[in-house]
Amino acid sequence: MAKVRVGVAGYGTIGQRLADGVAKQGDMELVGIADMAPTLAIRALYEKGMPYNLYLVDGADKSKFDELGIPVAGNFMDLVNNVDIMLDSSPAGIGLKNKVNIYEKAGVKAIFQGGEKNEVADVFFHGYANFEKGVDKNYLKLTSCNTTGLIRTVDCLDRAYGIEKVAITIIRRVADPGDYNRGLTNALMMEKAPTHQAVDLMTIMPHINATGILVHTPVTHGHIITVLAHGKQKITKEMALEAFKKHPRIRMLRMADGFMGNASYFKYGRDLGHVRGDMYEVGLWEDSIVESGDDIMYALVIPQEAVTIPETMDGIRAAMHMQETREEGTAETNKYLGIGACKDLGLGF
Ligand SMILES: NC(=O)c1ccc[n+]([C@@H]2O[C@H](COP(=O)([O-])OP(=O)(O)OC[C@H]3O[C@@H](n4cnc5c(N)ncnc54)[C@H](O)[C@@H]3O)[C@@H](O)[C@H]2O)c1
Repeated sequence: MAKVRVGVAGYGTIGQRLADGVAKQGDMELVGIADMAPTLAIRALYEKGMPYNLYLVDGADKSKFDELGIPVAGNFMDLVNNVDIMLDSSPAGIGLKNKVNIYEKAGVKAIFQGGEKNEVADVFFHGYANFEKGVDKNYLKLTSCNTTGLIRTVDCLDRAYGIEKVAITIIRRVADPGDYNRGLTNALMMEKAPTHQAVDLMTIMPHINATGILVHTPVTHGHIITVLAHGKQKITKEMALEAFKKHPRIRMLRMADGFMGNASYFKYGRDLGHVRGDMYEVGLWEDSIVESGDDIMYALVIPQEAVTIPETMDGIRAAMHMQETREEGTAETNKYLGIGACKDLGLGF
């Protein structure tokens, strides 16, 4: 079977990781990436020897790339016309314009990221929760970083035991590392309830009643979500642990091992030698799982820069009909991204 040809629009925080993710999939070919300006990420790509072909979107000033000697393979249409599917990780709102003005006209499928409105896509997609709904569709939208990780854990319990209701608290990192445009802050900031992640969860899993509160915090290395879940049956700590431990994209963390918080998880990604310290899995504290009457409560850390990459790869597999079921689709993605291998090591992850 010919490799599925993929392009990435917007080589920022998410786009760089999407490109790397596609490059690792043995059954896909990364045709190239497109951006607007010679950002630090593009300069780093050049310094790394241009492993990916660079295309320029409309409005980009090619002379700025020429001055730096950065080679340009062509314009955006050259890329779009040469792929089966585009991964659009341009700034929120641009994806919709690209869909209407470019992808639809070129007859090319596309997957959008969390910043776009849901209306941009045929299906609001999550690799584990609704893979089959994405099969053969032209336009998918990924859940945001928090929603992606949250749904992994709720779907895990839901499939094992049935879940009726969840209430969540999100302690949200306010910016990505290097986002100076967000300012230097030393305060917490409230968001109007219910938080969109709970509403998004209900859109993808309508049988679960969800609500929640979000608090922005001035940190950059990961969000933390606490979840209070009410099952169709009582879910004990042991039952929750058993289900979470089996999930390839959930790593179990213990404070006694040194996982004191969000920064330890980020540092572990660096110690593993992962590019940029990226972690594809969410980290879920074993020590945080606690029963409250008939409810079960737990806390997880969301590595916001990398967490949506696997589910986006699942999206390509669904939209391109490379596999038909969540089991097959997610297993292929996991294989190529090296996800889940740590489960066999006996480290307790
Ligand atoms: N940053 C995160 O942690 C995170 C997590 C999950 C989802 N998302 C979502 O991913 C999407 C991208 O966010 P990001 O954080 O990677 O943004 P970013 O600002 O880091 O990157 C955006 C890139 O797009 C480029 N660009 C600007 N105009 C463009 C155009 N017209 N066409 C193509 N590229 C253009 C910019 O130069 C930049 O390189 C958003 O929808 C966001 O909500 C972000």
